[in-house]
Amino acid sequence: IMRAIGIDIGGTKIAGAVVDEFGTILAHDRRPTSASEPQVIEDTVVDMVQDLAVGHDITAVGVAAAGFIDASQSIVYYAPNISWRNEPFREKLEKRLGLHIVVENDANAAGWAEFRFGAGRLVSDMVTLTIGTGVGGAIVSQDRLFRGGFGAGAELGHLRVVPNGLPCGCGAHGCIEQYGSGRALLRLANELADAGGIGQALASVRSRKGVLTGQDVSELVQIGDPGALSALRTLGTSLGQACASLAAVLDPQLFVIGGGVAQSGELLLDPIRQAFLEVLPARGYHPEPAFAIAELVNDAGVVGAADLARRYAESI
Ligand code: BGC
Ligand code: NA
Ligand code: ZN
Repeated sequence: IMRAIGIDIGGTKIAGAVVDEFGTILAHDRRPTSASEPQVIEDTVVDMVQDLAVGHDITAVGVAAAGFIDASQSIVYYAPNISWRNEPFREKLEKRLGLHIVVENDANAAGWAEFRFGAGRLVSDMVTLTIGTGVGGAIVSQDRLFRGGFGAGAELGHLRVVPNGLPCGCGAHGCIEQYGSGRALLRLANELADAGGIGQALASVRSRKGVLTGQDVSELVQIGDPGALSALRTLGTSLGQACASLAAVLDPQLFVIGGGVAQSGELLLDPIRQAFLEVLPARGYHPEPAFAIAELVNDAGVVGAADLARRYAESI
């Protein structure tokens, strides 16, 4: 039996799991981390892999990282929300662990898991947008994960949607990440809280707790608060417009929306679909892709990273 370990490094936590070839999780682990300390991240990953490997015959380790990865899947060129710069992650981990390591973009890993085992298992062409701290992207085209010429493709969060718009962690301005991410949702919610009116409930939670969190906004969304719903709607509109441009380029049969913010389900999909159809090129004649919420939720990153690593190990 082929088993691999998948590790998913996020801005605030690292998740890890032993996964079999059917995408089933056999063991898992989760630890907090600090995005500003690459050494701490490395040590934590090494420790987690060693713990998880006990009692399992592990063939490879897939490490999903939130950044631009090189074509040999070894180096993190750059990470907008973690302080990696030309980080030779694979070499460092292989030296310490003595196992095959594959470094994969976190959203690519999550999108691949959805394609293999989740919302996208019946299509050949799909685009995944992962809405968390940042906006991650994954493209599956003709049953293959698209990586681009230098390995750093499918960085869909950095599509420029507003000319000279808000500054982004990637160094550019106007990226969809600044209008469609969890952080963007908080910015929109704070703007509504400042403005009064429908932002009243947001403002009162903020003044009670000192600061609004993603959790606060999603709780207000759940109870139908007009301010929180309006912020979510604005977010979805930006994402839907970006999807229309993506459809013109990639022509997917399905868009999968994942990440923490996607827990709002239909409340997020609804404005995405609506904005998508309003600006879709050749609308009325262009076949309309489906929109779905990711199915693997918190496990997509580890399951996808493990599956990609296992395939890599089988191919060498
Ligand atoms: C990064 C991507 C990552 C995404 C989600 C973006 O800011 O550029 O590499 O996939 O955030 O974590
Ligand atoms: Na990606
Ligand atoms: Zn950007």
